[in-house]
Amino acid sequence: MALTLATRNPHKLREFARLLSVTELEPLAEEIELPPETGATFAENAFGKARAAAAASGRPAIADDSGIAAEALGGGPGVRSARYAGESASDAENLALLIEQVPVGSPLTYICALVYVDPRSGEERVFEGRCEGVMAAAPRGSGGFGYDPVFLPREEASGRTMAELSDSEKDAISHRGRALRAFEEWFSERA
Ligand code: IMP
Repeated sequence: MALTLATRNPHKLREFARLLSVTELEPLAEEIELPPETGATFAENAFGKARAAAAASGRPAIADDSGIAAEALGGGPGVRSARYAGESASDAENLALLIEQVPVGSPLTYICALVYVDPRSGEERVFEGRCEGVMAAAPRGSGGFGYDPVFLPREEASGRTMAELSDSEKDAISHRGRALRAFEEWFSERA
């Protein structure tokens, strides 16, 4: 049974496609509209996207909502990570603002809420993944996306930023990798 992935973010699509092994992914049909991400939590936003995709396609859907929480910003930008520097800010503009506002060495957490919705049975599940890190002294690396060039994962002893890791190294420790593995464990057990 293929799952619809409720995202239009090409970076996330790429990460999900290489991470998911228990089933196939269907891209989101062009005409399906996703709701605005106005929820107070990552899970709330992910539920909105997964429910919209599942209702429109009539098939099970998954969606994630993710972002970065900086201790120095009281947990911000959090659910506003994609719009941190403005409604239509680019990844580069958001990154520049984080560098301006967060001191070097201060704690950062990547968070991902992954939601599964089956419109036929009404079953809904949420899985959360986290990755702890600190702010790097300067942006480094060209892999990953978003805030990866300044995110120094605590589990990465080499001192490389998330953007300097290979795809498989990022997947092994990332918030999205962890949430997806938790989902896969549950999904494969119930099949
Ligand atoms: P959304 O989940 O589509 O609302 O967007 C999440 C935003 O959080 C992205 O635009 C990035 O700025 C940031 N983000 C989420 N996951 C990652 C990641 O793995 N690396 C870097 N930035 C991320």
